[in-house]
Amino acid sequence: MLKTKISIISVLTSKIKGLIMNNGIRKIFSEVPKTYELVNHILTFGFDILWRKKAVKIAVRQGGTHWLDVCSGTGETANYLANHANTNTKVYATDFSLPMLTEATKKPNGDRIQFALSDIKQLPFPDDTFDLITISFATRNISANRDALETSFREFHRILKPGGQFINLETGQPQSVIIRRLFHLFVKIFVKPIGSLISGSSAGYTYLSQTIPRFYSTEELASILKTSGFKTVTFKKLLFGIAAIHQSLK
Ligand SMILES: C[S@@+](CC[C@H](N)C(=O)[O-])C[C@H]1O[C@@H](n2cnc3c(N)ncnc32)[C@H](O)[C@@H]1O
Repeated sequence: MLKTKISIISVLTSKIKGLIMNNGIRKIFSEVPKTYELVNHILTFGFDILWRKKAVKIAVRQGGTHWLDVCSGTGETANYLANHANTNTKVYATDFSLPMLTEATKKPNGDRIQFALSDIKQLPFPDDTFDLITISFATRNISANRDALETSFREFHRILKPGGQFINLETGQPQSVIIRRLFHLFVKIFVKPIGSLISGSSAGYTYLSQTIPRFYSTEELASILKTSGFKTVTFKKLLFGIAAIHQSLK
């Protein structure tokens, strides 16, 4: 009896913690939509643009009629997807921050994309809907712990058609100790001051600078994708493993 009570309390506590964290993350991103892309381009020396385009090039080989970019933010990746979509392909983009999605609607392909304000934990789509789902530089934000990350990956898996593909572009951990230390040092020294200065959001870039060094290695992420139900998982490391593209099939 006592054991059951304790486990109910601990489930509730972790749900409440999750809600508080979710609201915090939504607030952070709602403060930065105007300068978000500029800061990314400066801090990555423009590599984020190349990596996004590479991920989209791999993703669209999947073909199909329904593509979705989740945690789409200001819609850069969704916009690239729409560049490759033919007239039969519908492109969707979701995010839980209205200011970020509002910025996304202003993209050149904004009128070709269907937007939905939604938390990734409960996406407003039936099972087996999409041929392709993409996520870029947002997986760190949905990985408060391994359980939370698996829950989100399972939700993507649910709405993919059998044989559908999930493309994940995210930072990683370089295998070389020297490169990893230099990468973390760069993040520690530059991300917070430059991001805060340009965006005016100190909280946002403090959070960002903390999530990068703590995130999973490319290999660990591949294993989490497998335990979340994906059948085949492959990956491509980018710039010594500073980032990676994971390709997973349902
Ligand atoms: C770092 S930005 C990435 C945006 C975009 N994908 C890109 O490549 O620039 C993370 C985005 O994920 C969104 N996000 C974070 N947690 C979310 C959640 N639980 N549900 C929906 N969107 C979420 C944030 O609002 C933000 O727009």
